Amino acid sequence: MRSECQRDNPAAGDRSCRVRLTVNDDEHDLTLDNRTTLLDALRERLGLTGSKKGCDHGQCGSCTVLLDGRRVKSCLILAVTLDDRRVVTVEGLADADDLAPIQAAFIAHDAFQCGYCTPGQLCSAQGMVDEAARGWPSAVTADLTAPVQLTDAEIRERMSGNLCRCAAYPNIVAAVREAATR
Ligand code: FES
Ligand code: FES
Repeated sequence: MRSECQRDNPAAGDRSCRVRLTVNDDEHDLTLDNRTTLLDALRERLGLTGSKKGCDHGQCGSCTVLLDGRRVKSCLILAVTLDDRRVVTVEGLADADDLAPIQAAFIAHDAFQCGYCTPGQLCSAQGMVDEAARGWPSAVTADLTAPVQLTDAEIRERMSGNLCRCAAYPNIVAAVREAATR
């Protein structure tokens, strides 16, 4: 489906587009103001408040979700650009009542305190484990020809876009390390 926009008639107040978005396997047909970020669409239109608004400037990572399997900061993306795309939020990581391995590992390793950053950390961690499995290098990958080993240095680098005000970093690294080996 192509998105339908009324962007040519701003004088009439029409600055919206119709967009179809699949979120956590549910299809949504939305008409959104063109300026609506993906984060605001998720939270305010779909009621998915797991993704958090921290800085709203792409700096803290608390809004991280998976877009077609790749992690993105949802506060930096306009929702109307995402017609026919698939989004997974923290609400979609679990399989019904079964937690995803990364979620179980966060609990087992006590990888959170206030929990505000945790939804973004979880989505980012899921995304980075998948990136490593595909063989994508990071800035600290020494051997670009060998399979990626998720050392603590690799995990720290790949998770560096997600800040934690409670500084639960050591336990987050331990949780990601465990989940990556499952
Ligand atoms: S709210 Fe998106 S990066 Fe901080
Ligand atoms: S657990 Fe509090 S901000 Fe990370």
